[in-house]
Amino acid sequence: MLVVFLLVFCLGETESAADSYVAAVYEHRVILNPNPRVPVSRREALIHMQKNLDIYEEQAAKAAQQGVQILVFPEDGIHGFNFTRSSISGYMETIPDPQEESWNPCTEPDKYNNTEVLQRLSCMARRNNLYLVANMPDLQPCPLKTAPSTCPADGHWQFNTNVAFNSDGLLVARYHKQNLFFEESFDTPPKLELITFDTPFAGKFGLIICFDILFHDPTVALVKMGVRQLVFPTAWMNELPLLDSIQFHRAFSLGANVTVLSSNLRNDQLIMTGSGIYTPFSATFHHAVKGDPEEGQLLVATVPVLGPVGVNSVTESLSPVDAQSDHCHTDGCADSPSPPSPGSSYSTFIGTMMHDPFKFVLIKEAEGNLTVCDGKFCCHLQYKWTAHDEGKELYALGAFAGTHTFNGRYALQVCAVVRCAGLEASSCGQKVEEAESKMDFLMEATFQTDYVYPSVLVNRMAIEQPDKLEKAAGGRVAMKHSNLSGGLITACLYGRMYQLDNE
Ligand SMILES: *[C@@H]1O[C@H](CO)[C@@H](O)[C@H](O)[C@H]1NC(C)=O
Ligand SMILES: *[C@@H]1O[C@H](CO)[C@@H](O)[C@H](O)[C@H]1NC(C)=O
Ligand SMILES: *[C@@H]1O[C@H](CO)[C@@H](O)[C@H](O)[C@H]1NC(C)=O
Ligand SMILES: *[C@@H]1O[C@H](CO)[C@@H](O)[C@H](O)[C@H]1NC(C)=O
Ligand SMILES: *[C@@H]1O[C@H](CO)[C@@H](O)[C@H](O)[C@H]1NC(C)=O
Repeated sequence: MLVVFLLVFCLGETESAADSYVAAVYEHRVILNPNPRVPVSRREALIHMQKNLDIYEEQAAKAAQQGVQILVFPEDGIHGFNFTRSSISGYMETIPDPQEESWNPCTEPDKYNNTEVLQRLSCMARRNNLYLVANMPDLQPCPLKTAPSTCPADGHWQFNTNVAFNSDGLLVARYHKQNLFFEESFDTPPKLELITFDTPFAGKFGLIICFDILFHDPTVALVKMGVRQLVFPTAWMNELPLLDSIQFHRAFSLGANVTVLSSNLRNDQLIMTGSGIYTPFSATFHHAVKGDPEEGQLLVATVPVLGPVGVNSVTESLSPVDAQSDHCHTDGCADSPSPPSPGSSYSTFIGTMMHDPFKFVLIKEAEGNLTVCDGKFCCHLQYKWTAHDEGKELYALGAFAGTHTFNGRYALQVCAVVRCAGLEASSCGQKVEEAESKMDFLMEATFQTDYVYPSVLVNRMAIEQPDKLEKAAGGRVAMKHSNLSGGLITACLYGRMYQLDNE
């Protein structure tokens, strides 16, 4: 009898363990080197890094108490940033390739010299019995036979690197950042790396870093390989109104139908905050707002295991928008913008948003149907205000199709409703963090890409899950939402035209 009971209990445990797992991300207020461009000794670099690692240690213990199985720390969280190629040298360790050898830095500390950070992270994972991902600089000598053209002039590579440890402390993955964001201390790896690691509780996780999330390689390449869970250390500088951390990271998770474990730094001067645990079904996030103390934040959530879906999951249809309230029934409808209804024929104007020239139209009437086009790319909005004081807040619908060229180059098709910063049309597209107006809306456009990332950002930097998303054949994407919990800052369909990036 006892045996049977135990058996049932154990099977039950196994089953529930296979459905979900407990993940954590830590938003870290990184302690910086005040003079990062001045070289320091290895000893000084270690003294600095141990201060950040002491905080990691406390958080790992806290996470373990809450049953966390995988814990993610942010990009640059141990060493900081703004180093030169030479001033970072005291901070670097040479990280062996886990695909070539098996090494547990905690239990085999003497295998390599100069690996204090790796050892401490490995022991942290082991002591707390959890998977742990952190970011650190890696120095790799060029192989002897490397063609001189691929090896940096000083004879070695320096990489912005994620390391992953299993719950025994074994180094299980090493990923070198592909898309650097003006990081003069680092090299782009000579070959694209698509790196994953396996866990007993949730299967595969893919590794990416910060700016990578905007590009096909490695991020979308991993998703196309069937990786449904991405670990994402970042040092994300928020850029409103379209690329705030929580807004875009959540949008990516929804648009690609994957889980993203996003761990950001907290640094008010550089506008870094906003971390989250995003799944296709849920979002647990933190975003500091003006006046909040500048401090770290541990987020913990129980999330579903995402198994592999069929190939091209990204292009499959999401749940359809209610046909009844859908104002665009026919397939070709989105390609032929309806003429503006009488009394609401506002003229379009060009405004700069995110450094790109958007075509805008103001959203003035109590309700209506609006269309704005940038070339052949048209954005449609069917809306009804549920709270709006016209004398207090101005809104616009914007469209942009083209290549973004400021701080990186990437091709876009974007449709967005934004709250303008002031009451002048010229203020539309500027940064806004607060809003009181609310609308129920259906927003749609026909994209020439399958990769469209939807977001709804509301008052004081919170995100909402759109009520309904529809992705139809032919590139039509619709997002329907009502009953906003806070004033609308931005509603956006952010289409990435990866195929045009290299043109
Ligand atoms: C440090 O780096 C950030 C991010 O790249 C940059 O915005 C900032 O201007 C830099 N600060 C200094 C003092 O170089
Ligand atoms: C580490 O450094 C010491 C002192 O320089 C040296 O004797 C030892 O061989 C080195 N160990 C390894 C594994 O490289
Ligand atoms: C998204 O993922 C969920 C869970 O894995 C799956 O049920 C759903 O069909 C996927 N949706 C799309 C559009 O692929
Ligand atoms: C918007 O378009 C839909 C569908 O064509 C129509 O039912 C609705 O009355 C229109 N709303 C306004 C305010 O024109
Ligand atoms: C709108 O939200 C409120 C509270 O947020 C809720 O009570 C109400 O049922 C919602 N209405 C609809 C139509 O979803």
